[in-house]
Amino acid sequence: MKTFIFLLKKLFSFITLSLILISCGGVPEETSSTNSEKKSFSVADVLTMVAHENDITRTLYTKAIVGGGKKQGFKFDEDWQDEKVEAGPLPALFLRGIANDIRKGDVPLGLYLSSDFPINASNQLEGKQADLYKDIKENRKPKHFFDEDTKLYTAMFADVAGAPACVSCHNKHPKTTKTDWKLGDVMGTTTWQYPADSLSYTEAMSVLKAYRDGTTAVYNDYLEEIKNFKESEKPEVGKKWPSNGKYLPAPEVFIDSVRKLSAYITMSSLMK
Ligand code: HEC
Repeated sequence: MKTFIFLLKKLFSFITLSLILISCGGVPEETSSTNSEKKSFSVADVLTMVAHENDITRTLYTKAIVGGGKKQGFKFDEDWQDEKVEAGPLPALFLRGIANDIRKGDVPLGLYLSSDFPINASNQLEGKQADLYKDIKENRKPKHFFDEDTKLYTAMFADVAGAPACVSCHNKHPKTTKTDWKLGDVMGTTTWQYPADSLSYTEAMSVLKAYRDGTTAVYNDYLEEIKNFKESEKPEVGKKWPSNGKYLPAPEVFIDSVRKLSAYITMSSLMK
């Protein structure tokens, strides 16, 4: 019976969170009543939800924009923000851009990618996280814990080589620390941090909104970059995607797809 009630509670918070996720686009800004609101959501549930949204965003960006764009001759580069480089951000840097944008706002949400064999030395897993990563590599299950060093609630999720491009780019990169990555390997983790163990409805909503706003910000940076292209052809920005030709979706078209995809998958996972 106890287990049943526990499951019901879990299901309820999951459904409520899904509704937040679906409606996130059109919600009002955070109000001052936050403090008196009931803290209905565990930090683990909220970080799992935003991690799911991140998976969808990153996959959509990697496959539809980078994968589809390359076929149209669009370029993507580590130094995409360099004035002389006419290119868009690589997926890892797209994520870094989202994380930077979140950091600039007032939602205390942390996000980063790390690995035991990173390309960028500052992404090296260390201490407790390096220890926990051994289990993640083994069973691919997320880890939720309180990080004593940073005093932050932390969630780590496996980052898997889901496309041949992950493996070939990392194996061949001049700064790589490992040259035999294989498709399906756990290549690192996506780590999320938040300073409280439970969140109110408004706070949970702000976390998802901060992530979505971050996505829009980086995507807009990419479109701004394109405006300044001098030598490369400029794709037309609007309703169409690179799979249709030399096009890029407008920011609202991109975000709308993320919203639809994440809503669908969240609902499907509820019906399992
Ligand atoms: C075209 C090259 C390229 C592709 C494709 C690529 N990456 Fe990376 N990845 C990089 C670079 C460069 C960095 C370092 C970025 C930075 O400075 O933080 C990086 C960073 C990472 C990190 C953080 C640890 C590290 O190595 O610094 C992980 C984990 C990671 N990528 C996983 C993936 C996965 C999984 C995929 C496929 C879904 C993928 N990457 C696709 C180039 C690539």
